[in-house]
Amino acid sequence: MPCEFTDIIYNPVWIVFTLILAVVVRSQRKGSWNPCDCPVQLKGKTAIVTGANTGIGKFIALDFAKRGARVILACRSETRGTAAAKDIQQRSGNQNVHLQLVDTSSLDSVRRFAARILEEEKELHILVNNAGVSGIPRGITEDRLEASFATNHIGPFLLTSLLLDLLKKSAPARIVNVSSVNHFRGKVDFSHFRGENLTYLLDTVYNHTKLHNVIWTNELARRLKGTDVTANSVHPGAVVTEIMRHYHWLLRLIFNLVGLFFLKSSEEGAVSVIYCAVAEETLDISGKYFDSDCSLKLPALAARDPAILAKEYEYCERITAGPRTAGDASDPDTPPP
Ligand SMILES: NC(=O)c1ccc[n+]([C@@H]2O[C@H](COP(=O)([O-])OP(=O)(O)OC[C@H]3O[C@@H](n4cnc5c(N)ncnc54)[C@H](OP(=O)(O)O)[C@@H]3O)[C@@H](O)[C@H]2O)c1
Ligand SMILES: *[C@@H]1O[C@H](CO)[C@@H](O)[C@H](O)[C@H]1NC(C)=O
Ligand SMILES: *[C@@H]1O[C@H](CO)[C@@H](O)[C@H](O)[C@H]1NC(C)=O
Ligand SMILES: *[C@@H]1O[C@H](CO)[C@@H](O)[C@H](O)[C@H]1NC(C)=O
Repeated sequence: MPCEFTDIIYNPVWIVFTLILAVVVRSQRKGSWNPCDCPVQLKGKTAIVTGANTGIGKFIALDFAKRGARVILACRSETRGTAAAKDIQQRSGNQNVHLQLVDTSSLDSVRRFAARILEEEKELHILVNNAGVSGIPRGITEDRLEASFATNHIGPFLLTSLLLDLLKKSAPARIVNVSSVNHFRGKVDFSHFRGENLTYLLDTVYNHTKLHNVIWTNELARRLKGTDVTANSVHPGAVVTEIMRHYHWLLRLIFNLVGLFFLKSSEEGAVSVIYCAVAEETLDISGKYFDSDCSLKLPALAARDPAILAKEYEYCERITAGPRTAGDASDPDTPPP
């Protein structure tokens, strides 16, 4: 008896099997923690989310707005930022959602942003460093920094440093850094910050920047001990967002197709970040790395090495210190070995 291929494909058993598989896979994408079951309210609290006009950041900001927070969307595009603010106001019913422009790849822009925040805000309780890029071509910024490192790491370093006193004053406060599982594949080489010794193959550079996110967060947490300000890094999961926009169209197509069934939506990707930023259970946790299912996980070895942590902080401070006075001995161009 010949058995046609189409008979197998259209066999109801297979259809049912595929449907069940899809349901199981989908349910796996959701973590065990559900923001809707979390009663925490944020009335009277102020939160900043960078890169909040799309993707994961937008859903983080929407959640904070629904909980009644004053939310500041820190975005680089006025058009996209304004549209997101309107949308979040509408969906949350909270009018206290505002746009402040910042380009995290520019130290000057970060300084001006921080100055405005310090002038206008009396308190700051949550800072989410979410803005990030992946797969952008080699570029050197006006600060002579490699573009991916400037955007994902050094700009956010300066932003956090400049807002630290306000966070401390407003304690309890939380700093959440959106990192990535990709950090496990990153390597530490401080000459990368100036664009040296880098190969631009797929997500190599992105992986390095995400490792530095975790290293810096851990050092920051160590320095914040005893202040009631916590700092953690979070992996949102593999999420279908605009993050692939700089990759080849074929890669993007595969990502989106696979994403349809197996990857998280932006709303689902925001969950582990929201957990880290608002849940009661995470109030006292600091210097940790949260996996996409909200569980704690050990980060890469380099992110737990005190010598690397110390070098990281020292070099980031040196690089972001601004114009030097004549005779200043600290040379911002010599990376630590
Ligand atoms: N998607 C994933 O699978 C995944 C996995 C692990 C970690 N992450 C991390 O999650 C975070 C959010 O990514 P996403 O997936 O939501 O990507 P996305 O959809 O591309 O959103 C990135 C956001 O960052 C903003 N941004 C980029 N460069 C900026 C700059 N120089 N200054 C200010 N804002 C800037 C973008 O603004 P514009 O719209 O104006 O460009 C956008 O709002 C990133 O840190 C990413 O590394 C994502
Ligand atoms: C988050 O990571 C960026 C990049 O490593 C860093 O510059 C920034 O200060 C970090 N913020 C916190 C809270 O760790
Ligand atoms: C970057 O990290 C991802 C996730 O761990 C990995 O699949 C990829 O191969 C890494 N890329 C490089 C070039 O190491
Ligand atoms: C990085 O590049 C510089 C020259 O651009 C070189 O002197 C240095 O040894 C390189 N570092 C590593 C770790 O390869």
